[in-house]
Amino acid sequence: MSKTITISAEEISRQREYGEKAATLLYNKFSRKPRAFVHTYGCQQNVSDSERMKGMLMEMGFDFTEETEEADLILFNTCAVREHAENRVFGNVGALKKHKYKHGCIIILCGCMTQQQSVAEKIKESYPFVDILFGTRVIYRLPEFIYRHLSTEKRVFELGGEDSIAEGLPVRRDGEFKGWLPIMYGCNNFCTYCIVPHVRGRERSRSPEDIIAEAKDMIAAGIKDITLLGQNVNSYGKGEDHGVNFAKLLRMINDLDGDFQIRFMTSHPRDCTLELLDAMRDCKKVCRHLHLPFQSGNNRVLAAMNRHYDREKYLSLIKAARERIPDISLTSDIIVGFPGETYEEFCDTLSLVKEVRFTSLFTFIYSARKGTPAAEMPDPYTHEEKAKWMGELLKVQEDIAAERNAALVGKHLRVLCEEYHGDGKIFGRTSGNVGISFDGAPEMLGRFATVEVTKALNWILEGKIITLEE
Ligand code: 5AD
Ligand code: SF4
Repeated sequence: MSKTITISAEEISRQREYGEKAATLLYNKFSRKPRAFVHTYGCQQNVSDSERMKGMLMEMGFDFTEETEEADLILFNTCAVREHAENRVFGNVGALKKHKYKHGCIIILCGCMTQQQSVAEKIKESYPFVDILFGTRVIYRLPEFIYRHLSTEKRVFELGGEDSIAEGLPVRRDGEFKGWLPIMYGCNNFCTYCIVPHVRGRERSRSPEDIIAEAKDMIAAGIKDITLLGQNVNSYGKGEDHGVNFAKLLRMINDLDGDFQIRFMTSHPRDCTLELLDAMRDCKKVCRHLHLPFQSGNNRVLAAMNRHYDREKYLSLIKAARERIPDISLTSDIIVGFPGETYEEFCDTLSLVKEVRFTSLFTFIYSARKGTPAAEMPDPYTHEEKAKWMGELLKVQEDIAAERNAALVGKHLRVLCEEYHGDGKIFGRTSGNVGISFDGAPEMLGRFATVEVTKALNWILEGKIITLEE
């Protein structure tokens, strides 16, 4: 028996009914088609959640705007991963007050940050102009919340809900050629610094059938770059009876007809298997890129972070990946200044970076998150000291990235034409996820091109087009 709770089809259609009733009330309130402004903070998982909420809003008759001044409904989908992200939300919500009282729009907060009781209470007391607040587990009930607010004129706060999966929600995708495909939700890892398992609940996987059906829809809609999403995609399918693990899922999606490429994130080194690396090697549609966050190169710190692997295991995974896919592009997340981390311990992170030679890094200074074990650990080093270490790390990585990018000059790479910036330049990304820009025209968008790398700048490559596929 599968442990995953799936929201019933009846409940999803009940939400559609709320949506229809809300649409009438909205039309009466604003006397025209209402407009929504949706802003997403944080990771791609959040971006994907927002695409589903936009789908529900669209079904309720909303148009979308990029201007808060024009909006009848403002929705912030928030992130809690670092304090900085939360402060930005508080600042931006505060700035809505004037707009609220002038235009009478509906203000909604949701996501990882609002799932925290303390944040919800602060909003309730100090931000009376926020009309609706809900957490990560009840996103599918957005139409009901809007209807309840409109019909009662009361504030709606809902942090409850189960760790479930809601299928059959409409999706309004942000990208025409690039799309997010969530395969699982939640996280069971409980890294001691991380708020995510506390706000997104336990791991649960979508069924292979639902994922494949969505992948087919995306391909049919012209999406050429599919990113499979999960907090820890390598534990896909755990606890389910279907026997499909992440490596198998990757092969299944790779086997679908169509000219598209597959990316995925995020992988946890603990659950990264040789079977997965074999699948990456064999699957020609899977990009030659592995984002494998190691967080720290020091074994004491890794244990204190509750990461369940050590430096040696991480390096052996990197070796195995490079044996199978010699040109694989590797990227990682790193935390600098975990509580109690000494400069000597930080130097192990530096040496690991030098040894692996990553394509790029996402680096963060540790930020204490209330309710996590690390927030209770002694943290003797100052922010200034940590910022200095961070500076050292960035310098090391900058040189490595410059050398790696320079080595690509002269190579012919297959690139999806993703964006046109109106200046005669097309922007795309290599299979290894490095940005590249080259001369082109809007009609090239959504097509694959072979591009010769002509110049390596620090973060981006320049190229010239060799051939353009149909
Ligand atoms: N402080 C700093 N960085 C963090 N991350 C997660 N939690 C914290 C925190 N409390 C980083 C990790 C993770 C990435 C998404 O954010 O590196 O991989
Ligand atoms: Fe932020 Fe993590 Fe939530 Fe993503 S899952 S929005 S990174 S807290």
